[in-house]
Amino acid sequence: MGKLWGGRFTKATNKLVEEETASISFDQKLAAEDIKGSRAHVTMLATQGIVTEDERDQILDGLSRVEEKLKQGALTYSVANEDIHMNIEAFLIEEIGPVGGKLHTGRSRNDQVATDMHLYLREHTKQIITAVGEVQRALLQQAEKHVHTLIPGYTHLQRAQPVSFAHHLLAYFWMLDRDKQRFQDGLKRTNISPLGAGALAGTTFPIDRHQTARELEFDGVYANSMDAVSDRDFILEFLSAASIFMMHLSRMSEELVLWSSEEFSFIELDDSFCTGSSIMPQKKNPDVPELLRAKTGRVYGNLHGLLTVLKGLPLAYNKDMQEDKEGMFDTVETLEASLAMLAPMIETMQVKEQSMREAVNQDFSNATDIADYLVTKGTPFREAHEVIGSIVLYAIEKKKFLLDLTMEEYTSFHPLFEEDIYQVLKPEQVVRNRNSYGGTGQEQVASQLKEAASALMKE
Ligand code: ARG
Repeated sequence: MGKLWGGRFTKATNKLVEEETASISFDQKLAAEDIKGSRAHVTMLATQGIVTEDERDQILDGLSRVEEKLKQGALTYSVANEDIHMNIEAFLIEEIGPVGGKLHTGRSRNDQVATDMHLYLREHTKQIITAVGEVQRALLQQAEKHVHTLIPGYTHLQRAQPVSFAHHLLAYFWMLDRDKQRFQDGLKRTNISPLGAGALAGTTFPIDRHQTARELEFDGVYANSMDAVSDRDFILEFLSAASIFMMHLSRMSEELVLWSSEEFSFIELDDSFCTGSSIMPQKKNPDVPELLRAKTGRVYGNLHGLLTVLKGLPLAYNKDMQEDKEGMFDTVETLEASLAMLAPMIETMQVKEQSMREAVNQDFSNATDIADYLVTKGTPFREAHEVIGSIVLYAIEKKKFLLDLTMEEYTSFHPLFEEDIYQVLKPEQVVRNRNSYGGTGQEQVASQLKEAASALMKE
């Protein structure tokens, strides 16, 4: 069979051009969406009297047969038919004869491809939101076990103040919560129907765009046909939400990598999530978080790619827009695969409470607390800060930590020090005292856990 659009042409397409301009090698991923959109379209054509009920039934039946054959792998896509839309239309015509040619009445590939993309992204965004919830659940489960596990908290990657490990994990929980909200919000603009916009200007047939939108469970229709076929904002929004989300995964991964090192030794990832070295027999490498960290790069790349493709395009459809697909598929697949590994990796990770404890005991992260101690006794904070600075310097020289200094040593720095200073300096106490709302104090973390659990329930 010749090209579906062959009438206007006197020469066959150059083979290289055919190869390079075809999108079937990647847009075949839209087969299910394409058939779904066609069903809604032909059903509407019949309601509006544009095709007969009998023609509709033949086309619906043909589409089901094509769908079935595609599932069985019984059909071969052809590059000559360029893309998924024309391949399916050609299969349909092969299946039921010329009546199949009525399907494309009042429709263009421009509104068709946009519809497919909206449907595809809607489904996958929903799946991604659910999968992000699973990672949050895994973080929450670990956090519940570790309210009383202490870990050094860092700024500038220097030990700053001790925190509850649960508190640290929950910080990621809330990042992911915002990611979910961003994806959810994007759905509002993804779930709008471009179908019936035609090539760009609408159609002369008395179609009903609201009927197809309802059937495809869209929340509304684009008000402007030119906007409908040239809008790819919904993909850009998804890609930017995905980029921010991957940035979060990358930060979390970086910590998992650091924590798994001999130097930190705060966690051990399960063997099933690590790999070995072909030369060094002792190695157990945290490949999964390393790869998650790296995959962030390709997701950013996909966002930049599409932003650049779209920036100079005149209205309405341009072939450039065919380049919207691979980056979107790649992002969806990267996120789905990353998420699937992440939840079980967090669930099975072993927390080395003892090493965390040793780290907390062997640092100066309780220094702020002695400053606060002097402040409660009436010393201005600046003066207290200065005094404690010299105490720390002194302790470093003596190779001691703050809990090791004697009462005489303390009083030689400031007369207001008393025996109760040793209680104040204990890491548990240091953490407990940070009881301001959202702080790491055990009481605050306990109520944060409840808030997190109810945020998960809201889904
Ligand atoms: N394969 C095309 C794409 O993905 C479908 C729309 C083509 N429309 C056209 N007028 N050439 O963008």
